[in-house]
Amino acid sequence: MTSTDQIKAQFHKTPYPKIISPETLVNQLKTILPIAQTFLEDRSKNNFYRTEKPSDVNRVFDIPLPIEPSPIEECLKYMEREIIPRFPSISNPRFLAFIPSDPAPPALLGALLTPLFNQYTGTVIGSPGASAIEGLSIKWITQILDLDPSSWGSFTMGGSGANLTCIYTGLVDKAPWNIKKNGLFGDKRLLIYVSDQSHNCIKKAAMLLGLGEDSIRIIPSDDSYRLTAESVRSTLEEDENDDSKLPIMLIGTAGTTNTGAIDDLAGLYELAQEKNMWFHIDGAYGAFAKISEAPIAKKLEFIKLADSIALDTHKWLFVPFEGGCAIVKDSKKLHNAFELGAEYLQDTEMEEDVQLQRNFRSYGFPLSREFRGLKIWMTIRNYGKSGLKQLITRNILVADYLRSRILEHPNLELMAESQLSIVCFRWIGSDELNDIIISEIQKRKRFYLSRTTLRGKTTLRVCILNLHTTPELMDDLIKEIEEIEAIISEKF
Ligand SMILES: Cc1ncc(COP(=O)(O)O)c(C=O)c1O
Repeated sequence: MTSTDQIKAQFHKTPYPKIISPETLVNQLKTILPIAQTFLEDRSKNNFYRTEKPSDVNRVFDIPLPIEPSPIEECLKYMEREIIPRFPSISNPRFLAFIPSDPAPPALLGALLTPLFNQYTGTVIGSPGASAIEGLSIKWITQILDLDPSSWGSFTMGGSGANLTCIYTGLVDKAPWNIKKNGLFGDKRLLIYVSDQSHNCIKKAAMLLGLGEDSIRIIPSDDSYRLTAESVRSTLEEDENDDSKLPIMLIGTAGTTNTGAIDDLAGLYELAQEKNMWFHIDGAYGAFAKISEAPIAKKLEFIKLADSIALDTHKWLFVPFEGGCAIVKDSKKLHNAFELGAEYLQDTEMEEDVQLQRNFRSYGFPLSREFRGLKIWMTIRNYGKSGLKQLITRNILVADYLRSRILEHPNLELMAESQLSIVCFRWIGSDELNDIIISEIQKRKRFYLSRTTLRGKTTLRVCILNLHTTPELMDDLIKEIEEIEAIISEKF
């Protein structure tokens, strides 16, 4: 056996790799500031398109594993030369596809500092300050949205993680057997009801939780792409009459990804109450519009009825990726779902939660967690509720302006009635024509919008979630569409 002295000698013979030392890290931080500055300035240029084929990008980056250390300067140079030019800027005001992200300056500052501080928010003992700020951010979010004061939550990787956290909590609370102990091995199949417009992360959550896709009952939405209580009732009551099934959860969406529709939240809540089901709302895209001055905000008041709600601060709170947030109306239920002790965690136990000082490991899946609260706290603290209200209202006004331009246009038609910041429309004509219009817009690279299919028809979809998109840019977009149509119309 190796002696203790031999081990010590071997340790001292094993050199410390010659890479950046803690002392020079601060100097390196200064050298990366110009890189950051250039990147931020370039965000407003139109570099939001992928220009190379995936196979070409792959060829550039598929380099051999480095065996020997290399100087940090080389790393940074390589990053500037090869990596950053391949970062499309989805924060550009002309990027209108999917659900864009445009982080606000205080959020970026908070996010930049987060890994430097490297604080541990899984337990209070890990970092009392970070846990408190994380807790305060959760509390402020519940206050911004006027949710029940007993609500509590935790930050998650994104909207998908927030939905997963809430769905699991609902299953634990409503299943007639102990899910934490027995899993899904009860005597009935648990069923969850959602609309055909719900985000696919709900199905993924069912897959991960072992329920499987078949436990998700997909209910057709109405002509406005909303889920109504009446449309759920017949399927639900059929399932109730089957002894092998147990309807356990009803999910409404506050702002669907496709069109921005808001389900009949009040009706769904009443149905869930009547049937003793958990009522969850996916508000990842739309919930924060509740604080806007737009008339639609009234409909979002019903989010406070939900047993749980999934939010996403990296969408309409202008925070950089990732900033999901799961909120449960009764904080004890969230705690009950996730609390699990371990021998090695004895030192982290608390006699009781003290308001903001909570062990977040007991309010969600991860033990080690990123300190997401800092960037969220900085955003809310800097803008205040009224500043955030202005930002969200401005986005919806730009969407209203585009809707109004479409309504008065002889050749364009609106494809959905949303009153949030998603606008779905098409040139009156064939799918082929609309497909070419979208492809041409993408080829010209002045705007980026994505396509969807509504009522079986190819549809142009615009989503405004940028701090600097204006009504004038929407005029420019319509002009671009008209120009493209004029060039290609001879074909049709
Ligand atoms: C309504 C809705 N729910 C959930 C998600 C998933 O969120 P994430 O992409 O942050 O996981 C999205 C994403 O666009 C969404 O729009």
